[in-house]
Amino acid sequence: APDVQPGPEPTVHTQEAYAPEDDFTSKWTRADARQLARLSDPAAPSRENSMPASLTMPEVPKDFPDMSNEQVWVWDTWPLTDEDGNQYSVNGQEIIFSLVADRSLGFDERHHYAKIGYFFRPAGVPTDERPENGGWTYGGLVFDEGVTGQIFEDQSFSHQTQWSGSARIMKGGEIKLFFTDVAFYRDAAGADVKPYDPRIALSVGKVHATPNGVKLTGFDKVTDLLQADGTYYQTGEQNPYFNFRDPFTFEDPAHPGETYMVFEGNSAMQRESATCDAEDLGYREGDPYAETVEAVNASSATLQIGNIGLAKAKNDELTEWEFLPPILSANCVTDQTERPQFVFKDGKAYLFTISHRSTFADGIDGPEGVYAFVGDGIRSDFQPLNNGSGLALGNPTNLNYPGGQPFAPNVDQHPGHFQAYSHYVMPGGLVQSFIDTIGTSDNFVRGGTLAPTVKIDLDGDTSAVDYSYGSDGLGGWADIPANIDVNPGGKV
Ligand code: FRU
Ligand code: FRU
Ligand code: FRU
Repeated sequence: APDVQPGPEPTVHTQEAYAPEDDFTSKWTRADARQLARLSDPAAPSRENSMPASLTMPEVPKDFPDMSNEQVWVWDTWPLTDEDGNQYSVNGQEIIFSLVADRSLGFDERHHYAKIGYFFRPAGVPTDERPENGGWTYGGLVFDEGVTGQIFEDQSFSHQTQWSGSARIMKGGEIKLFFTDVAFYRDAAGADVKPYDPRIALSVGKVHATPNGVKLTGFDKVTDLLQADGTYYQTGEQNPYFNFRDPFTFEDPAHPGETYMVFEGNSAMQRESATCDAEDLGYREGDPYAETVEAVNASSATLQIGNIGLAKAKNDELTEWEFLPPILSANCVTDQTERPQFVFKDGKAYLFTISHRSTFADGIDGPEGVYAFVGDGIRSDFQPLNNGSGLALGNPTNLNYPGGQPFAPNVDQHPGHFQAYSHYVMPGGLVQSFIDTIGTSDNFVRGGTLAPTVKIDLDGDTSAVDYSYGSDGLGGWADIPANIDVNPGGKV
């Protein structure tokens, strides 16, 4: 176990499972999240990583190859999966979906212009026999212009964008694409006329794969599945900066035949009057490092109230869903618990979510990366992995110095501070992510393409980066391999 600095003890979590419908929400507490700082070396000098190597993504080199041959910016990416998270190739083609944007935009403008595109490449080729950039062919956009805007009653939006989700392969080559359909209502100066409107949505299409390439048809209609309800999941009326997005569907091994979805939300409090309680803080009795509820509520930490939502499908077509209470809250811990997903291993449910350094609450600090929680079921008293900190794979980061911004990294920061984000955990512990910024203030490059795939090993309530994978822990660029082939012979 890594050395820890003095600080509070993490919250005791039992990992005990509750029924998915139960009204129990696990807390990622301040006591837990303060373990991140306890894992950080206070003596780490300028530009060096202060976090344990076992929880740090190996440094990504600056001279990365571009997977789209500079056709589009690429960030959040997801494979074609079944209900168990297996990744499929179809007729010998691997297929992935990515948020893409026009290269004429600055990389930080991408969120308001994001569209879902797709890529394909031949399956079953060893990494070292592929082109360095992963060997993907950009297939274009999934939706025709105008399709994803149709669900909004108010058509006066200024920007209409498609945000992250997940894609399920069904019988006969049908693809159910779950995504976040978003409308922004802004004036010419960029100010909100009214809060943006993110909705969890479904569109259905078909994949046509031959040895010559992949075409998608359908995706000409969108079904609005879920809008934040204000009871479990914060709405735009409660907070114009609310988060509600990133659906990931799966089957719970404990409840075969049902389909569930996890997604990013916020606790449904009014932004100005939000408060946290003793359970959100999670300190043990008599902990000398404990904070008081009053002190935390008097700080700005109450602005960071992320949660991970759960919903259950009401029909086999997966077009009707009902909200269940959130499975995890991060009140006064972080505001963004993005792209949540489940991995089931050794009878345990592992919940992963990505979070930014900048979205942690006042008094909490931790790297950009993917965080993990383990329990006995999909609703559990989740134990944050690795000394209670939750960190599974962070960028090389020096918590002794500020981070700056991806467009202006801090002079003392490790060049890898913003190297990767939007990590997605794949079968076998492989993890893919996109490159944001590599370098420090005097010399940095923006990404817009996928990072090298890395590997983490999960073991109970710990995990570690596998440095024997690839080259010192870095695998192929943009490597998202299928582990199951549908018609692997390439039969049409
Ligand atoms: C019922 C149930 C509960 C158990 C949980 C485990 O839905 O089997 O009895 O606590 O699910 O997943
Ligand atoms: C993560 C993310 C997602 C969102 C998308 C928008 O990188 O913030 O939560 O769907 O990017 O671009
Ligand atoms: C796709 C499919 C999926 C299922 C998988 C395994 O062809 O039928 O519906 O998840 O294959 O049977």
